[in-house]
Amino acid sequence: MNFHVLTLFPDMIEQGLHTSILGKAMEKGCITLETTNIRDFSANKYNRVDDYPYGGGAGMVMEAEPVYRACKSVEAGIGRPARTVYLTPQGRVLNQAIVEELAMEEDLILLCGHYEGIDERVLEEVVTDYISIGDYVLTGGELGAMVLIDAVSRFVPGVLSNEESSQFESLQDNLLEYPHYTRPEEWHGKKVPPVLLSGDHRKIEAWRHEQSVKRTKERRPDLLKNAVTVTCAFYALEESWRELIRQTTEEMTRYGNLLDVGRKKIRKQHNTFGSGDFLLFAVPSILPTDSPVSAQEDFFQSFRGHNTPAALIYYGNPTEAEPQDSTLRMPADRLITSLQNQGFRILDTCQNPESSRERRLFLLRLREKIYQGIRKETATDA
Ligand SMILES: C[S@@+](CC[C@H](N)C(=O)[O-])C[C@H]1O[C@@H](n2cnc3c(N)ncnc32)[C@H](O)[C@@H]1O
Repeated sequence: MNFHVLTLFPDMIEQGLHTSILGKAMEKGCITLETTNIRDFSANKYNRVDDYPYGGGAGMVMEAEPVYRACKSVEAGIGRPARTVYLTPQGRVLNQAIVEELAMEEDLILLCGHYEGIDERVLEEVVTDYISIGDYVLTGGELGAMVLIDAVSRFVPGVLSNEESSQFESLQDNLLEYPHYTRPEEWHGKKVPPVLLSGDHRKIEAWRHEQSVKRTKERRPDLLKNAVTVTCAFYALEESWRELIRQTTEEMTRYGNLLDVGRKKIRKQHNTFGSGDFLLFAVPSILPTDSPVSAQEDFFQSFRGHNTPAALIYYGNPTEAEPQDSTLRMPADRLITSLQNQGFRILDTCQNPESSRERRLFLLRLREKIYQGIRKETATDA
């Protein structure tokens, strides 16, 4: 991924980002950083880039023309228009979902303001996203750009080791991370919680989940409001589909449940969910006639939701070939209607999220919708 920063203080960016994990990522070529000094594009013989504000008032305003030229020069280097973020206290406040979304770009142009800000007219022409790093005012956009680059880079393949990148982190699942301990076992009379020394991984996992929920309740109850427990109910004819479902669920949540409805027992037992749950239903788009049930919706007969958000994944391409005599094509809308009648709110559907990019896009869309959906409910409740 390539970051292009437009700034009046390139040294600040260069000095801040070439160390530690990001420095190594640049050496390896996973990310590149190019800084452009807006002053080099001044139209003025004194290299001035700011002027007094029309209408009076304190402070100076960065002129439109140098910013425009700098931006166009970077775009010409990239060879196509790129997403251009203006760091500003007036933007969407950066969060993990925005970070993950930005990490999917190949090139990102970051525009740093200074003084009172930048002439509005050039912002209207070049900026695609307005992003704030928090509800406070900084002297310039450089620290904001550095924060954004650091957070986004963590999602660029190769920046973190495999082990680091698959780790649970604060904010995944809308939970804060559990507390950490390292040697010695006792420090200042405080002992490491015994469960962590037990070697029992199931118990450790349960303890960590409990600690995450407790900590989020205490420190960030606002996050917990948007947390959901993910269950994936699936019917997979092929091992590759099973693997796809396992990966998708794992990428969506650390604490998910998998229910294989190919197993009669699961199909028969009562499965009831509330509005704090999220259901991921996964089925083949074409069923063989010898499948355990004759229609897709039959798989989920015993499932009941209560305004439970849900999404559908289909394996196989229903438009690819006409069904054979030995297969049944199931129209998506029939399954959706049946699940809606059973109390599920279908937010999205996806055909074969096989590549990791497709899965990420699908999961990002879902996260955004879960968040909006739950906010809407809260607004109606109030
Ligand atoms: C002093 S600020 C200008 C603030 C502007 N007058 C206003 O009230 O919106 C100068 C520059 O710092 C950057 N900046 C300040 N606070 C920021 C924040 N919370 N997030 C991102 N960038 C910020 C912006 O690039 C801005 O143009």
